[in-house]
Amino acid sequence: MTTDFDADKTVIAPHGGKLVDRRVPAAERQAFLQKARALPKVRLNPLQASDAEMIAIGAFSPLTGFMGQADYRGVVANMHLQNGLPWSMPVTLAVNEETAKGVRDGQEVALEDEEGRVLGTMAVQERFSYNKEEEARQVYRTTDAAHPGVANMYAQGPVMLGGPVRYVGIPREEMPFPEYRLEPAETRRKFHELGWKSVVGFQTRNPVHRAHEYIQKCAMEMVDGLLLHPLVGATKGDDIPADVRMRCYQVLLEKYYPKGRVLLSVNPAFMRYAGPREAIFHALVRKNYGCSHFIVGRDHAGVGNYYGTYDAQQIFREFQPGELGIQPLMFENSFYCKACGNMGTAKTCPHDSANHVFLSGTQVRNILSKGEMPPQEFSRPEVARALAEAYRQK
Ligand code: ADX
Repeated sequence: MTTDFDADKTVIAPHGGKLVDRRVPAAERQAFLQKARALPKVRLNPLQASDAEMIAIGAFSPLTGFMGQADYRGVVANMHLQNGLPWSMPVTLAVNEETAKGVRDGQEVALEDEEGRVLGTMAVQERFSYNKEEEARQVYRTTDAAHPGVANMYAQGPVMLGGPVRYVGIPREEMPFPEYRLEPAETRRKFHELGWKSVVGFQTRNPVHRAHEYIQKCAMEMVDGLLLHPLVGATKGDDIPADVRMRCYQVLLEKYYPKGRVLLSVNPAFMRYAGPREAIFHALVRKNYGCSHFIVGRDHAGVGNYYGTYDAQQIFREFQPGELGIQPLMFENSFYCKACGNMGTAKTCPHDSANHVFLSGTQVRNILSKGEMPPQEFSRPEVARALAEAYRQK
């Protein structure tokens, strides 16, 4: 391990130039917890707890806490923080009236999870109300309560608390996938040690199917390494659970990817399903993890028919060159073509769609629930087996 490593000075600077670290040092932990137990409590749901962790570890740099009013309004209206930096998703702590009334501005509160464990504290600098429909329209491009991200937001309390957090969290060993839970400073160090000067980040909430593999490998031809960065925070109920996906990633990497060219690590964020806005957010978060490039394929972070196939690519044009500080790599809808005998897209395959193997998530789930396996043109047999196995055990 090199000793002269500075996480802020790797090839790709964190968003805002400095990796945020809001964790309480180990030596202060006991005293901090003791003090926190005497503070008024604010209970975080799993989505808010995930945000607190992302803030604390620097994945949301430059945010040091839950957003205050100026940042929130700037982000909703024009995708910029008050300091001028791009940011596309609100990161807010919405609470009910009763909780809000029990807190004074300037007061410190303890943040606890649903099991009553203290995760950290927050200095409440602001309390403000907000317009849910406005946020839905601007951020999610729909006010439909059937949209899973909008539904989460509509279910929140009416008052937001803004202010910096300090965080102890729960020990890594007690969290899911501890050995894959690298924080931004750790992935940055890893890239440095591996000598990777350019790294492409890949967001996913699915098993890696052939189309995902194809676009990853196209990207890997251009850069030094791939950060396979599955999201393991909350997803909607019918998405494939993270533990099943992790098995799929492991078997796939073992057999089909060169050793030393891929780092598998998890992203503890939850899915917002905000399509274009979330694509920008996903890219900025991966920049904080040290990526120089980020893959954006078809309907990135989309759900149902709320977004056009390439909306999540077009939104990148709304930023000035260099403003985001991470290079998106855009890919067309990819498929296996039986006539070509390989993977391709409309850019490289001349055959009509009758030759193309493409299955939606719903179709894959239907195949699996019948006890069958998706075809190998769609999914590697090892991945199909891992999925089929998980479905049998359901
Ligand atoms: S997402 O919600 O995380 O975007 P998913 O895990 O399916 O869902 O996608 C991961 C990445 O692969 C996204 O960038 C998405 O756009 C891209 N992608 C998924 N399927 C395809 C496909 N068939 N062709 C091209 N890109 C795809």
